[in-house]
Amino acid sequence: MTIATAATAAYIVAALFFIRALAGLSRHESARLGNTYGMLGMAVALVATIALTIDDGIDVPAFALLVAAIAVGALIGLNRARAVEMTAMPELIALLHSFVGLAAVLVGWSGYLHVERHPGGTEATKLAREDMLGIHSAEVFIGVFIGAVTLTGSVVAFGKLSGKMKSAPLMLPGKNLLNVGALVVFAALTVVFVVEPQSWALIAVTAVALLLGWHLVASIGGGDMPVVVSMLNSYSGWAAAASGFLLGNDLLIIVGALVGSSGAYLSAIMCKAMNRSFLSVIAGGFGLEAPAASGGEQGRHREITAAETAEALAGASSVIITPGYGMAVAQAQGPVADLTARLRDHGVQVRFGIHPVAGRLPGHMNVLLAEAKVPYDLVLEMDEINDDFGTADVVLVIGANDIVNPAAEEDPTSPIAGMPVLEVWNARQVVVFKRSMATGYAGVQNPLFFRDNTQMLFGDAKERVTDILQALKHLTPAREKAGARS
Ligand code: TAP
Repeated sequence: MTIATAATAAYIVAALFFIRALAGLSRHESARLGNTYGMLGMAVALVATIALTIDDGIDVPAFALLVAAIAVGALIGLNRARAVEMTAMPELIALLHSFVGLAAVLVGWSGYLHVERHPGGTEATKLAREDMLGIHSAEVFIGVFIGAVTLTGSVVAFGKLSGKMKSAPLMLPGKNLLNVGALVVFAALTVVFVVEPQSWALIAVTAVALLLGWHLVASIGGGDMPVVVSMLNSYSGWAAAASGFLLGNDLLIIVGALVGSSGAYLSAIMCKAMNRSFLSVIAGGFGLEAPAASGGEQGRHREITAAETAEALAGASSVIITPGYGMAVAQAQGPVADLTARLRDHGVQVRFGIHPVAGRLPGHMNVLLAEAKVPYDLVLEMDEINDDFGTADVVLVIGANDIVNPAAEEDPTSPIAGMPVLEVWNARQVVVFKRSMATGYAGVQNPLFFRDNTQMLFGDAKERVTDILQALKHLTPAREKAGARS
């Protein structure tokens, strides 16, 4: 068997590993196994690609460079993955997407410099003989375009997610026209480049795509960022697939298509969950008007102490916990799991209501709760629990804000109008854990905080939950008292 045949077989094995990885990642229980499959697939793919490169007769300095690049990349990756806080994960992912975009731009440019700029070279002659030069030029052009949009779009997403840029949408006059104009220029330049490949056209499309990517994501408001992150994930997949065509690498095409289509599917699911139009979001908030100013306070709020919250919990028979981004910031999942176990030990029914975009990553809260070993059957999706808030005695809103904002249902002028939310206000009593009256990610004030049945428990969520656990030690939950009496 030749090295080339063995590498093709290895690519098929790696592709199967990647498919198993995606299947595994679709459920909490199998997510770890999914990750392991992904790592195995990547290891097989790397070994096969290096073996192919050696078989192609790579010279020693080039091989040394390749090994050095892999070693440096692996070290940086390992270091970042170990150091990253869970709360910084979304921005790290956005940054990694930008690298895929950059790689696609570089592969496209390198393809152009090797083939179109060297008409007499071996590759160009071979492609000309097979009548494939036009196809190659189209691949270069489309690959550079998708890569450059992904690059700047991801950099802006990184800026918005890390708080280095404002999350409010950029509202340039005629923004929709600018986006459509960029697409028209791209289409026209593609024709020009395929007919007569020239540097100026490739430089122009790179510049247009860099600006378009920046503008598309800058135009999207904070509340819609989840869709943007999954959409950029999808773009990075298509950028990788485009590079796969250029490099003649089947595995890159397969993996790119898997990432591209799963990212697009996830974006569609997110749009459905947030009641947003998929097309509007991928077109950079097409059709959005400037949001109404919505930062000011809307009445008086009431406060509660940890000891009083413990008393309310001790008297409850049904409790629902709705965690949000603040639980991740405070790393409160451990004490929250302890509180759940303690209340359940005393016969209180405890369930979790998870909003599809709670936190900053798809599945963010599920991961944290699984890490803290909260039983999966207590963790319910928004659709499964929304009708039950009316029967809950106490709802603990732990570090959540936008996802429990009634303005989404009640105020058509709100920037988050139409987004389905957890209807916590229907419960008998709502306790909101946060550090201040500041707005959530979307920058919108939350009328929940001023309702009669809502009380604010200020402070770091982990500290407050720990205080409640302490206070509960001195209290006997009502159901236990009732049990002792009977
Ligand atoms: P947010 O609306 O961001 O609210 C989180 C709240 O947690 C804040 O109001 C903050 O108030 C509080 N908080 C922060 N640190 C805390 C701490 N240490 N202890 C206690 N409270 C703390 O979060 P959410 O309700 O989960 O909604 C998610 C938002 O992020 C949505 O707008 C969503 O569209 C967006 N988003 C989601 C994703 C994905 S995929 N999930 C991706 C990007 C963006 P204080 O500062 O007053 O404490």
